[in-house]
Amino acid sequence: MLKVENLDVAYGHLQVLRSVNMHIKNGEIVAILGANGAGKTTFLKSVMGLVPPKAGKVFYQGQDVTGLPTFQLSRKGIAFVPEERNIFPAMTVEENLLLGAYVNNVKSQVNANLKDVYEMFPRLQERRRQLAGTMSGGERQMLAIGRGLMNKPHLIILDEPSMGLSPTNVLIVFETIKNLITQEVTIIIVEQNVNATLAVASRAYVMEHGSVVMEGTSETLLSNDHVKKTYLGLN
Ligand SMILES: Nc1ncnc2c1ncn2[C@@H]1O[C@H](COP(=O)(O)OP(=O)(O)OP(=O)(O)O)[C@@H](O)[C@H]1O
Ligand SMILES: [Mg+2]
Repeated sequence: MLKVENLDVAYGHLQVLRSVNMHIKNGEIVAILGANGAGKTTFLKSVMGLVPPKAGKVFYQGQDVTGLPTFQLSRKGIAFVPEERNIFPAMTVEENLLLGAYVNNVKSQVNANLKDVYEMFPRLQERRRQLAGTMSGGERQMLAIGRGLMNKPHLIILDEPSMGLSPTNVLIVFETIKNLITQEVTIIIVEQNVNATLAVASRAYVMEHGSVVMEGTSETLLSNDHVKKTYLGLN
């Protein structure tokens, strides 16, 4: 579904990604792990057309999409839920969701998608007239994910969905992710919450200083000494 070959990204003279290779198959959940500053967000942004690559290629469903603008990638079925959860605080929950439906804005289709999102997140339906800015952290994250789903994406890219959430809300977010699997959505997830992430992901990549240093199935990584020590705090 997604294949990234030898991706190099630099901010000015600062090279942040070095020859990154990844592939994600249809229906997989793939995690990207790595310390702060490893280049995870940069990688996602570059795939999503938000940061131009210096070299390398991105293929989506067999097509070369390197450097395509974000809106065209959305049209092709990729949704990106950024770290910052760019919701509009002065608009209601429902208005935020409707804004997400810019790819296919035929009214009947939008209403059907809205119904599906509400089915998945009953909390958003209960709060549909509430201003997004007054929602709790966990609810806002649901809203950000729900908005991504309004375009019926084939691939959803989540950047640290559990960041800043209370333990209960973290559980809710991971439940949501498990739910997404049943909707036949392919998922790329960047997370610091390594245990919970490897429990839902089938495979993972570990990034350090802008390079992929390890990849494998979740079980393999969970039993790897370097991963245990560096990312799980175990000896
Ligand atoms: N717009 C930018 N201009 C210059 N440097 C940047 C920019 N964005 C990120 N960087 C730098 O690139 C490196 C990688 O950042 P990135 O945000 O991709 O890391 P990350 O793995 O997502 O980290 P975190 O876990 O903290 O979110 C960091 O050293 C960061 O300071
Ligand atoms: Mg980041």
